[in-house]
Amino acid sequence: MKISKRTALLLISMFIISFLFSNIFSTLSIDPKSIVTNKYHDVGDQESNLIWFVQISDIHISIFRDPSRITQFRDFCHRTLDSIKPIVVLASGDLTDAKTKDHIGSTQIEREWQYYRDILKETRIEERTLWLDIRGNHDSFNVAGQQSKQNFFTNYSIQGKSHPRSYMYQIEKDNVTYSFIGIDACLEPGPKRPFNFVGILDKQEIAHIHAMIERLESSGSNYTIWFGHFPTSCILSYGEESIRDLIGNDKNGLAYLCGHLHKLGGLVPSMYTLQNAGFLELELGDWKDNRMYRVLAIDHGILSFVDVELGEWPVILITNPKNALFMNPLRENSENLRTSRFIRILAFSLSTIASVKVKIDKEDWQYGKHVNGPLYVTPWNSGMYQEGLHDIEVMVKDSDGRTRTIKQQFALDGTRLSFNVMPRILLSTNANVLFRLMFATMVVFSIVPLIFIRYLHKLVEVGKVPKPRQNQNFLKIWLRKLWVLSTIDRIFWPMVLYPIYLCIGPWSIGYVIEDHIGVIFAWGIFVNGTFLPGSFTYAYGFIQLVTFQVPLTLMLAHGVDQRFQYHTVKPGKKKSLFTSISVHLPFVILIVIQLEMAYLFWLAYGTLAFILGPLRTWSVFLAIVLWHQTFTFPIHCTRKAASIWSPKPPEENTSVVSTINR
Ligand SMILES: *[C@@H]1O[C@H](CO)[C@@H](O)[C@H](O)[C@H]1NC(C)=O
Ligand SMILES: *[C@@H]1O[C@H](CO)[C@@H](O)[C@H](O)[C@H]1NC(C)=O
Repeated sequence: MKISKRTALLLISMFIISFLFSNIFSTLSIDPKSIVTNKYHDVGDQESNLIWFVQISDIHISIFRDPSRITQFRDFCHRTLDSIKPIVVLASGDLTDAKTKDHIGSTQIEREWQYYRDILKETRIEERTLWLDIRGNHDSFNVAGQQSKQNFFTNYSIQGKSHPRSYMYQIEKDNVTYSFIGIDACLEPGPKRPFNFVGILDKQEIAHIHAMIERLESSGSNYTIWFGHFPTSCILSYGEESIRDLIGNDKNGLAYLCGHLHKLGGLVPSMYTLQNAGFLELELGDWKDNRMYRVLAIDHGILSFVDVELGEWPVILITNPKNALFMNPLRENSENLRTSRFIRILAFSLSTIASVKVKIDKEDWQYGKHVNGPLYVTPWNSGMYQEGLHDIEVMVKDSDGRTRTIKQQFALDGTRLSFNVMPRILLSTNANVLFRLMFATMVVFSIVPLIFIRYLHKLVEVGKVPKPRQNQNFLKIWLRKLWVLSTIDRIFWPMVLYPIYLCIGPWSIGYVIEDHIGVIFAWGIFVNGTFLPGSFTYAYGFIQLVTFQVPLTLMLAHGVDQRFQYHTVKPGKKKSLFTSISVHLPFVILIVIQLEMAYLFWLAYGTLAFILGPLRTWSVFLAIVLWHQTFTFPIHCTRKAASIWSPKPPEENTSVVSTINR
């Protein structure tokens, strides 16, 4: 009965949470007046007003792991780009892996940068396309500044020499101007990993971005593609405007392309959303493990794209009618689709394309006509599909017999599909706020119950609150355990003060970057005279509280209660071996996990940071001292608890005796 009540409660709360989430994220508030009617274009079969380009992200060239990452990257630059012939290639960060052999430490490795440069040189990339590369967090691991010897981006990348940070490129084709703006939100100075996970835009960089937006307007740019390494959720802004506001200022900005989150370990294979500020945010799966790249096109002002795994041929991109999921009513003129006269398809393969066939809903297949390059068109009567969602299916065959079919939905009446919940959460929230919230919640959760119970004890002592009734209810048993803990000063105070210390005091002092000693706090890192505000640090602290503070509290409570029980409640009862193991084993596991984490911290930041490390190393000692205390404290320390939780408290016995005597 109880279980079913609990299950019901769980289900209800899950329902409420998902309801709240769906409400927070599904309301794309489009004010019809604010709709920027981008210029209308008659979409026919011409090849003008069309470009296509490619994005690749998180290449992670490594000299220690997975050599095929390098060889296949060379193949990508060669054959893949030869078949696609993009006008631009965006390489959105984490060009090299920059991890040490143990996979935990981080430093820039010149050899990796040489691979990157050599492949681009060998394949004469600069003659074949415009290669726009930008830094990711891995490219700024252990880089103290632009003058640093570790800053290989400057010398080994294509853009680094002229553009150390954010930059803009414009290209003109058929009298249409396309702008590409790269956002570099890397920390400067750049600490070693992991405190380099969230990017920052400082005042200077924001001013620089504003200047670029002004240039966009004055140069009469028609469409902008924004790109960068970090998703907008992982960029902390120093100014009043968030990165989303900044991009939203650009009324011709179609999308922000990023990487960084890979596929979240395979959990979220496609991460796309439409931001309220009016642009699509499209995270691209990584090259590192998944060998992903993306082909995009801007066709008559409408952006379409397809994410492709290396070696998948033919690559098919339907540019008109555009996929209903990615419609962007704030930036694209949907009248183009409604009145278009041709279905337009880009088809690429290693050999020549033999045939392109199109099918809408349940109609017959129609052959596409080749226009030029990868462009194929089929006339259609868009008037037949003005309402609701329809399916479009395209089949492409190349002269080597490779065949591929894709199917997607389109709508000409503005019917919208909604993005999945996980990607929306990952791209629309704010990691910085989320990490802070998680940390604060855990701090409160770690100390407030203990303080509350201690206070409750005071109230019971003075008789303001009745004694808790004793029974074998699970919650009551744990209340008793925590109660005993909270009345033993020598354990209570350290357990309450340690989380408070983690909020205020330094976590570690050590070589945060190269040979610069830095101090790490929850709220930020001081290094080489610069303050980097905390963000990922909070997530790190959260993990520490979850894996250390909370289990240790429960174990200590269990331990002190055991002793309390054996001495006060059931004296003389012998402890069984099983009981001893059940008390000590969890603690041993806890210490092993903490030692492992301290070891990882040592690999990441070195010996000094390990020794001067209240967060990791010292916490192990704290735990051992407290554990020792738990089994050695003088038993009079439990007197307070005994006054409440003994079945027959000694005081009461004496009083009974004395009444009889009277
Ligand atoms: C450390 O900071 C100083 C002053 O801000 C700067 O000039 C120097 O380049 C930095 N160190 C490195 C290695 O970049
Ligand atoms: C591009 O922008 C310029 C300046 O705003 C405008 O005159 C031109 O018509 C636009 N071209 C297209 C194809 O939208």
